[in-house]
Amino acid sequence: MLVIVVILFSLKYISTIDTEMVVLRAVRGRDARLPCGQGRVFLDGPDSYVLWLKNDRDFLYRFPNDDTERRSINHDQFTTCDGASCRDDTSLLLKRVGEEDGGVYRCRVHYQASPSVDYVIDVRLVDSPGTPRIYDERGEEIKRAYFGPLSLGSDFTLVCEVDDEQPDTLVYWRRNNEVIERAHSAHAGVLRAEVRVLNVSRAELDAHYECLAQNADVTEPLSASVVVKMYLPPQKVEIRLNNNLDFEAGQPRVVDCVVVGCVPPPTISWHLGDTLLRPSAHKVFLYEFHDGNYTVSSLTLAPSLRDSKHSLVCRAHNSHFDNVIFEDKVTLNVGYRPICLTRREETLGVVQREAETVTCVVDAAPEPLQFSWTFADSRTLYTSVKKVAGHEHRYSSTLTWLPRAGDVGALLCRATNPFGEQKRPCSYTLAPGGPPQPPDCVVLRAYPDTLRVQCKKGWDGGRHQIIHLEVVSADGAVVYNVSDTAGHFQLPDVDEDRNLTAVAYASNARGRSELNTIHLHTLKPLVASVVTEDTPPRPWTRWLEAAAGSLAVAAAVAATALCIRALKARRENVENPDLVPRSDGSFHREPDFAREERVLGTTNITVNQLAACQNQYSASPVPSCRVLVGCAHAPAPESCPATQHSYYV
Ligand SMILES: *[C@@H]1O[C@H](CO)[C@@H](O)[C@H](O)[C@H]1NC(C)=O
Ligand SMILES: *[C@@H]1O[C@H](CO)[C@@H](O)[C@H](O)[C@H]1NC(C)=O
Ligand SMILES: *[C@@H]1O[C@H](CO)[C@@H](O)[C@H](O)[C@H]1NC(C)=O
Ligand SMILES: *[C@@H]1O[C@H](CO)[C@@H](O)[C@H](O)[C@H]1NC(C)=O
Repeated sequence: MLVIVVILFSLKYISTIDTEMVVLRAVRGRDARLPCGQGRVFLDGPDSYVLWLKNDRDFLYRFPNDDTERRSINHDQFTTCDGASCRDDTSLLLKRVGEEDGGVYRCRVHYQASPSVDYVIDVRLVDSPGTPRIYDERGEEIKRAYFGPLSLGSDFTLVCEVDDEQPDTLVYWRRNNEVIERAHSAHAGVLRAEVRVLNVSRAELDAHYECLAQNADVTEPLSASVVVKMYLPPQKVEIRLNNNLDFEAGQPRVVDCVVVGCVPPPTISWHLGDTLLRPSAHKVFLYEFHDGNYTVSSLTLAPSLRDSKHSLVCRAHNSHFDNVIFEDKVTLNVGYRPICLTRREETLGVVQREAETVTCVVDAAPEPLQFSWTFADSRTLYTSVKKVAGHEHRYSSTLTWLPRAGDVGALLCRATNPFGEQKRPCSYTLAPGGPPQPPDCVVLRAYPDTLRVQCKKGWDGGRHQIIHLEVVSADGAVVYNVSDTAGHFQLPDVDEDRNLTAVAYASNARGRSELNTIHLHTLKPLVASVVTEDTPPRPWTRWLEAAAGSLAVAAAVAATALCIRALKARRENVENPDLVPRSDGSFHREPDFAREERVLGTTNITVNQLAACQNQYSASPVPSCRVLVGCAHAPAPESCPATQHSYYV
């Protein structure tokens, strides 16, 4: 439009020697704005100004004035633009132009440093052109502010007509403020401009088509406009996960799905595997917002391990494209970092230059990449990963090394998988290895003529230990020389007349422990209450009874403690019924007691079966543990009533 006005200016300039007169047209009944010097006046200082005069008599306007001073301190800037329309404060505004407004206007610019310059305008009045009317290709007038909705690839035509007979009237189309089409005279008294768009693209969305009718230079043209509406399928549906498909099991994570360029805004649904995720469902939170081009749905998801390798799908639904699916799909990778399964802190007895092996077991998903082993001196070794057969998420790693002089203190094992490094390490203590510690044994009298010895093992010194028991008489004759891995012995046919000494010790590959000597003759006789009435107590039984009397309580306490451990072990085994490979290569059930119970059957010595927990699966909240003392082969209470004791834990 500016171009047109400038062309009009240059055509209508009348050259005179001192001033130039320009003829400009204004429309009757509407506002007109007269430019001073084509709107390009530059005032060269605070004392320069512009004066407007009409017919060289009437003073109309001065710039700057109090009003414009207030608005703009800067004298260089009198053109203020507000969006598409600019206003020039040096121009002269004529409100609702009437017949009396025609005539000669003079704009005089008083410069500070140079002579003043005059611009003279001859304002001629013209009649308003007709208001533009817009029609579609079928000839129907479009009265709404929009046109469509259109779909991609369609064609459309917009026709603009203006009733006007004045020769200088211009009718033209603007699209988003750019002139695209001029009118030509259709038939007498009607100007017509046509816009035809083929193969409509996305660019037509919200395009602003405006038809203008203009026959004046200083009056705004008349116009009519429409905005193109379209239905558009999404250009893109994208699940945004920052290239990280790893979800920590059970940990909520926000997933955004962005749908671009879908009109009208889509509804978005999420699917995990075959399940539609609903906002109301457990651990699913949805949040959606729409911003012009973009619709974003935010999902907060806390997937479980079962959801791993399932597809998470974001689907955009546009009601106008019912038959097409717009979606993005990712495959979830759910897992967690390794967790230590070696619960008990193990003490490893190490000897310099003697190969040591230790195994670390973790629960992890997915498989760990490696295990690291850190010694107290910060030395770190790495080992490879082995799957534990029969368990889905269990992995182990074994370190075999030659201990050095400084290898004492903590040894920490940590596994690392794609979800990170194990937080709490599996921890071991390295101590100087050697022979085992001596066992702690109690002696029980058994019926009849039988001696029971139960030994609690001490630390094994780093190698598998065996408990040995030797019973020798005063003259040095060896009555018994037996060994057992569990440390439980039952010795029949012990003759009370002999002055016997029991010697217990433990041994491993590194040697023997100190001896634990028990002088059996020092045991005091027990009152005969435990013996049945019809058979008078035989004298030899006295010291054994004494042994039973003084040791029964200790044994009961020890057995009770063992029972508690066994119960605990069983309870732990219920949730974790698995064997854990141990450093010595054998399998090891926690705690030791349970394992030793199994071993008993394979020992050729009849070993203790006294301490056995019954009722451990009873419904009672307090499981009872029954300890039978001195009644080895009598599970029924009545067969051995005198010596039966029950303890409840
Ligand atoms: C329509 O335009 C698209 C690109 O916007 C083009 O790929 C397609 O070939 C065009 N169709 C016709 C019929 O011109
Ligand atoms: C909408 O997004 C597309 C793709 O990012 C872009 O090409 C287009 O210009 C955007 N349109 C608008 C109106 O922002
Ligand atoms: C008992 O047997 C072991 C070997 O089995 C032997 O070394 C030890 O000397 C024996 N003890 C006695 C007192 O004979
Ligand atoms: C039994 O033998 C020990 C040494 O083995 C001895 O000290 C004790 O006096 C003896 N007792 C009897 C009653 O012979």
